Amino acid sequence: MSQTSNPSILLISGSLNPDSNSRILVHAIEQALQTLDVQTRFLDLRDYPLPFCDGDSAYNDPRLPELSAMIREADAILIGIPVYNFDINAAVKNLVELTGSAWENQVVGFLCAAGGRSSYMSVMNFGNDLMLDFRCLIIPRFIYAVGNDFLDSNIQNADIQDRIQTLAKEAKQLALYRKTTR
Ligand SMILES: Cc1cc2nc3c(=O)[nH]c(=O)nc-3n(C[C@H](O)[C@H](O)[C@H](O)COP(=O)(O)O)c2cc1C
Repeated sequence: MSQTSNPSILLISGSLNPDSNSRILVHAIEQALQTLDVQTRFLDLRDYPLPFCDGDSAYNDPRLPELSAMIREADAILIGIPVYNFDINAAVKNLVELTGSAWENQVVGFLCAAGGRSSYMSVMNFGNDLMLDFRCLIIPRFIYAVGNDFLDSNIQNADIQDRIQTLAKEAKQLALYRKTTR
């Protein structure tokens, strides 16, 4: 049951893959947050086919006001991110390019899915971008999971499950802080 005094966290699933591992991570933290009485909204980028940002007419896309409002109104945002080419995938970066200032002063956390262990710092450049461009507060704890951490659409690695619980608690605290200071 939602309570108005509790923070609201926007969960973004950034993978366009129908069989996405990062989406599994986002659904897992959704459950953890709901157990903590945090209100959640789920935004799946697969439901919002967006044009590539061209710095021009793409800003007129009719879906952008709704997306920008969801981003701006959240007390924190947690993003499920596929690691592509030692970076975040283009769809998530494109969302930020298109919604820009809606991210200002947000609290943001990451749940990354990758193919191998060695790309674990791939999200750092994105974090720097959000900090420097939009003064976001980046939650200094993120999830990084690889294929072996999943089995039959479930998380089978207990350490990842523990980390999701911890991230949910810290995201709630920071979301509460933002809610009371904005
Ligand atoms: C175009 C492409 C590039 C990728 N690059 C990397 C990479 O640099 N490092 C890595 O560990 N995995 C890489 N992968 C594997 C993905 O991170 C992996 O499939 C992950 O599960 C994607 O997230 P998703 O399942 O939520 O879509 C790549 C996959 C694709 C399709």
